[in-house]
Amino acid sequence: MRNPFKPTAGMTPPVLVGRKADIEDFSCALDDGVGAPGRLMYVTGARGVGKTVMLNALGDVARERGWLVIDETANHGFISRLIDALQDNDKTRDGKTHITSWTMPSGSLAIPGTSVDASLSLGSIQFTPTEQSLDFRKAMTRKLDQLEKNGLGILITLDEVQPSSIEEIRALATTIQHLIREKRNIAFVFAGLPTLVENVIDDDVLTFLRRAERKHLEDVDLDEVRHAFAVTITTNGKHASDDVLDRLTQATNGYPFMIQLVGYWAWHASEVGPLADDKEITRAAADKGVAQAELKLGDMVHGPVFNKPSPMKCDYLLAMAQDDGPSSTAEIAKRLKRDPGYANVYRTQLINEDLIYQSSYGYVDFRLPFMRDYLREHGAYLQMRENIKGRSEQ
Ligand SMILES: Nc1ncnc2c1ncn2[C@@H]1O[C@H](COP(=O)(O)OP(=O)(O)OP(=O)(O)O)[C@@H](O)[C@H]1O
Ligand SMILES: [Mg+2]
Repeated sequence: MRNPFKPTAGMTPPVLVGRKADIEDFSCALDDGVGAPGRLMYVTGARGVGKTVMLNALGDVARERGWLVIDETANHGFISRLIDALQDNDKTRDGKTHITSWTMPSGSLAIPGTSVDASLSLGSIQFTPTEQSLDFRKAMTRKLDQLEKNGLGILITLDEVQPSSIEEIRALATTIQHLIREKRNIAFVFAGLPTLVENVIDDDVLTFLRRAERKHLEDVDLDEVRHAFAVTITTNGKHASDDVLDRLTQATNGYPFMIQLVGYWAWHASEVGPLADDKEITRAAADKGVAQAELKLGDMVHGPVFNKPSPMKCDYLLAMAQDDGPSSTAEIAKRLKRDPGYANVYRTQLINEDLIYQSSYGYVDFRLPFMRDYLREHGAYLQMRENIKGRSEQ
């Protein structure tokens, strides 16, 4: 039988757990009309918590109302792609395409007033963000003129917002700001990792984005996770006992990506190999699935997380992994042989990146489940890698 679980980044899960209230808020913002605060929103949260999936769900809300929804990712060239999307979609237009970039052949150029003949390979020409901003604004206005006649609007979702795309984000945001001021029927929702998004909205040009509503996605309630497992498994033709449902639920710790991983691998174990059973996900299949899910989580989430932090941040996390529960920040500073102020800088950065959180005054804990186990298993390796790098840089 087809496996109903979706442990893939950005894939809409069979049951979207624990996000009903956020989605309803957005529905209301669309119904409340132009100027409703929830029409300008941003979504933050740790890796795998469901930001992209949330953007998809909000997009569906707008699509159901007949709105035009354009989903983009904030990497190079996204403004051109938005303009293209607005024009491609424009079925009533005269068929002319508006050129936003084109490739020119190699040529030679005589620069007047100089004695230089420059031979140039002109390559691809792109408009600057200001010109793009104008083009984008025109395309939005034209499209809105059509849609608003029928009471419809445009939603733009922008995923993976990060400082490296600041120029284009400025162009986009300035246009959105103008359109809001002109009382056009639009909504704009953007998403990204907490520190990256915060860095972007701290930009001087983008002060207006600071007024956007923030939805910080967290782990979801375990009762809802259990219910989602029960519904998904039964509607797809299998049975799971209360004991199995408990086992699967507990193993997720409420982390959305883990819901899909645990579900996927438990289902897989009930389909293939010695634990295969047409009708039932047995306890043995559940145990096997959970073990497999934990392994995969290590590779897919924790691995990439550790390719990035500075050695000091890595050390901080490794020092935390020595505790079985929340770690005292004073104790961590001692383990790192640093003064508390210095250690605190890294503590703050790790909190901003949503890798850890303050569990009580003077204590921090891991945000992602199993990170402690992963670090304990891989700690020696990570430490060794950093030491080797450190030596080669000396
Ligand atoms: N509310 C939810 N209920 C059940 N599963 C979910 C939920 N949200 C996300 N998932 C699942 O978790 C996985 C990760 O979701 P998604 O890619 O949206 O996370 P993300 O926050 O965008 O991660 P990243 O920071 O890596 O971009 C997907 O497999 C998705 O199906
Ligand atoms: Mg994502």
